[in-house]
Amino acid sequence: MNSKIVVCASGEGSNFEALVESAREGRLKAEIVGLIVSRSGVGALARAERLGVPTAVISPKAFAKASDWDQAMVHQIQAWSGEWIALAGFLCRVGPQMLATFPKRIVNSHPSLLPDFGGPGMYGDRVHAAVLAAGRKETGITIHVIDGEYDRGQIVAQTRVEVREGDTPALLATRVKSHEVRFYPKVLNDLVTGQTTGS
Ligand code: GRF
Repeated sequence: MNSKIVVCASGEGSNFEALVESAREGRLKAEIVGLIVSRSGVGALARAERLGVPTAVISPKAFAKASDWDQAMVHQIQAWSGEWIALAGFLCRVGPQMLATFPKRIVNSHPSLLPDFGGPGMYGDRVHAAVLAAGRKETGITIHVIDGEYDRGQIVAQTRVEVREGDTPALLATRVKSHEVRFYPKVLNDLVTGQTTGS
């Protein structure tokens, strides 16, 4: 039976859409049962509506305590019978209840070759700007199973992406994302079908 995946996003949602399409076309042997976003008005929500995927807005700001937010996340994932969680541009740090409830089942895609250019504050164009500032000739994508730290945890797969002469953070971001929307669904499929392991 296909695994049930809940996607968590905070932004545009191109990776979310790629996961939904891959699942519907059978390349990702899973069902995307819902999308959780950390704030309203983000592009990912509009995509989910267009694609007919159930959504929930669960903003940390709406809760008095971080543990209440954490618990609300777990409840929503369980309400959708989610077995795997795919973070796709999700800008919140996953809480201890989620980690304990879904051990080794929370997966993230980071747009660099971790451990380089990861950690707190390293998201969006900041990652690509740092790669360019360091004069790197290549960058890439890392799919990893998460633990309690930003951009840490077991690396499942990486792929390389070239840095070109004259690249800007925006150009590099676009090139990385064009690879990521194919790579992430493929690696996630390997994980949920047991062809690779995050442990
Ligand atoms: C992706 O490159 C992801 O790796 C990073 O943020 C970007 C999100 O893009 N963490 P999108 O929301 O999937 O379009």
